[in-house]
Formats: sequence, C-alpha cells, structure tokens
Amino acid sequence: MEKLIVEGGYRLSGTVNISGSKNASLPILAAALLTDEPVRITRVPDVSDTNYMLQILSQLGASVERYSGTVRIASPDGISSSASYEQVRKMRASICLLGPMMARMKRCTLPLPGGCVIGDRPVDLHLRAIQALGARVRVKGGNMVIEAPNGLVGTTVDMRGDSGPTVLGTDNLMMAAVLARGTTVIESAAREPEVVDLANFLNKMGARIEGAGSRTITIHGVERLHGCEHTVIPDRIEAGTFMVAGCMGMSDGITLNRVCREHMKSISDLLVECGHVVEYNEDGTSVSVKPGERPRSGKILTNPYPGYPTDMQAQMTALFALTPGISVVKDTIFPQRFMHCSELKRMGANIKVDNGTAIITGVEGLSGAPVMASDLRASAALVLAALAAEGTTEIHRLYHIDRGYELLDDKLELLGARVRRVPDLEGGLVE
Ligand code: UD1
Repeated sequence: MEKLIVEGGYRLSGTVNISGSKNASLPILAAALLTDEPVRITRVPDVSDTNYMLQILSQLGASVERYSGTVRIASPDGISSSASYEQVRKMRASICLLGPMMARMKRCTLPLPGGCVIGDRPVDLHLRAIQALGARVRVKGGNMVIEAPNGLVGTTVDMRGDSGPTVLGTDNLMMAAVLARGTTVIESAAREPEVVDLANFLNKMGARIEGAGSRTITIHGVERLHGCEHTVIPDRIEAGTFMVAGCMGMSDGITLNRVCREHMKSISDLLVECGHVVEYNEDGTSVSVKPGERPRSGKILTNPYPGYPTDMQAQMTALFALTPGISVVKDTIFPQRFMHCSELKRMGANIKVDNGTAIITGVEGLSGAPVMASDLRASAALVLAALAAEGTTEIHRLYHIDRGYELLDDKLELLGARVRRVPDLEGGLVE
C-alpha cells in the first residue's frame, strides 16, 4: 500500500493534458465482447479500474494488448459466460459486463455487487431491464444467474429509478439490445456524455442506436457487430478536479488541454458563479482557470447530466472549505457520499453534515494532517485541500485515487505542487 505526502502551499501554474474518461472507457471495454473481430480503443486511461476491466476480459478468454493508451481487444467465440467474485469484487463497474455477456452468450453468471462506501448501490434497474428483454434472473450463492435461452427480444423499458436515471443501467440495456431481435426503446435514459460515447462506439461496430444523449434512446437490433477503432472522450471529472485546483488560493492560474467545453458546462458555470475566472479557447478544447479576486460561497444540488455531477461535489467541498461565507452541498444521487467531510474537518474545515447535505462555513486556512481516503472522489478532495493547506498532509489508502486519476502525481508536479508517493507501512489509521 502507498500513501501520498503533500507539502501544502506551493504555487500552481502551467499546463496539463486531461486523460481519456475512465467512466466512458469501462463500458466501452466491456462492449468489445460484442464482436469476435478485434477493436482498437485509444485514450484509455491507465488507472486501476481500466486495468481490472482488462484483466477480467482476458480471464473471460479475450485477448488483450495495451500500449501507451491504446487497447486492442479480440473476443473470439468460446468466451466464458461466468465471472467469479474474486475477479469482479474490486470494481463495482464490472456490472457493465452484464449487457454484452447477455447479448453475445445469451446467459451469464455474475456476482451480485455488495454495498460500498458511497451508498447502497443496488442493481435492480439493470435486472429489470434485462428481464424486460426476456431474460430470466435467479440469485444463487451470491451470484446473479441470468439466462435467455430463446434470445433477447426488443421492447420499451423505462429506466427511471427513485434517484433518477441510471448511467451504467442505460449502458447495459443499450449493449444488451444491440443484438436483440426487434427494436428496444429506452425511456428515462441517462444523458451523460459517457452514454453518448458508448453509443458512438457501438454504432461504429455496426449497431443502430438513435437518440443517445436524450431521454429516449431507440435501438434497432442487428444480426452481428464488427471490429472498429474509437477514441475515448476526455474525462470531465478529472478536468473538473484540476479546474478546482486552479481556482484555489495557491494557484496562479493553470491551463488544461484536451477538454470538451460542452461536457463541462455545469462545472464551469458554478466556478464562475463563485467568482472564479474560467476561459475556454475558441473550439472549447482547452481551458484556463484562475482564482477570482473575490471568491464567493455557493450551492450545489447534484443531479443527473446536464445537472451538477455527484462525482464533483467532494472536490468543490474542498474549495468551499476555504471560501468566505456559507456554502451548501446536497447530494440527491448518493445522499451518504460525505465521508470526505470528516477528514476535511481534521484539517481544520468547518463542515456540518446532516441528512444528505453538507453546510460548509469557509475558514481562513487549513492545516496539513494525516487523513484517510475513503473513495475515489473523496480522495481527490483531500488532495485538493492538502495542496492549499499549511504544512504536510499524508493521504492514506491511495489506491482509491489510483482507481480513476491517471498520473496524478506527475501532473500535479508539472504544475508546481510538491507531492511524493511512499510506501504506507502502517496501512493508514485504524479501520
Ligand atoms: C455511474 C458512474 C459514477 C457516478 C454515477 C452517477 C461509472 C463507472 N460510474 O455509476 O462515477 O457517480 O454514475 O453519476 O460510470 N440505482 C438504483 N438501482 C440501480 C442502479 C442505480 O436505484 O439498479 C440508483 C443509484 O443508487 C443512484 C442512482 O440510481 O442513486 C444513479 O446511479 P447510477 O447512475 O446507476 O450510477 P452508476 O452507473 O453505477
């Protein structure tokens, strides 16, 4: 295990490149199972989540090659229809194997994912969708055993759950429906850019998907898919995280290349509302950010895209902790996602969490402390706070951040931060 040592207070400036999207890559890699021809995917970030997905694909029988951000996957006939708990337990997003496995093999056995630190994370909507296409679902020994001996048949499915649309649920249904007989209509579909990227990839493979990016997606089933080449969209959450770093007090202003302005609207708008400077180049692929002269507190209500992403609220909480006034963060998607707040409080932040809402009263400064990462985005919030804090912060359980930020230490160092990764012999504080 490793920990990150951050010396706070060093000025940030300069330019970094944003990596390909982790959340777009995961279902796209899984979708490679839909054809026996090779697919070539570029800008796949080298993070532990994509590595787990590639390991699972190769254990299922696919041949996987990876070279500098490019992945080539070939899934000949004979791919296994069953993944073990050991294989998938490290990554919740392995649920997105369900759609492609059902489409290709008409049956699959996948371990039921358990809860995780950001909430209960049920899969009822994924199962409802595959059942609507004619599959039978049983739970046996902690596994979902799903079978559609007569194949999948298109129909209309409403994917809305109590907390709104589901991203990976929409992805799974789209991937299951591309090879189903007839037409599938997904109502209340997730509109996230990652869903659109998956639909574009599937269409390049010969699928017939219309309407991705809107609330209704129509999929006309086809007989077979073929190989293709695809470049993954930029990671809007990594970009948002660096934008927050660039708006914090220790920043002289930074520039991020390889972004997509259209995907960043709610994140950029909030930073501007809070008094910071956000300027895109003409084609929206590069953004420069710097702290405003009079930063203001703000309010976040997380919502499905194009609303404010739940995956960015922790990072903004770190910024609000140092912004004069009272800020409010309410997470409607994962109401329990506030583990970072107790760690930020150990650094001197003034935050009260109650009933899915954090109330943050800005303080003048934070001080470095040993802190514990609890999930991917919570760890990003701790890194941001540590960069601005006085003194040294030790962030334990670094593996959380390695799930989703490619070359984070190198990128921060390039901007002038002082960060060091060292072995964590104690493994963090008490559990
Ligand atoms: C994806 C993202 C994750 C992000 C989340 C919400 C990936 C790999 N992960 O996760 O980073 O935080 O979207 O933007 O892309 N729900 C149900 N039943 C289900 C499925 C979901 O009730 O069967 C609920 C969830 O508990 C949550 C809401 O629906 O309250 C949205 O979750 P969902 O969009 O499914 O999250 P993921 O796709 O797993």
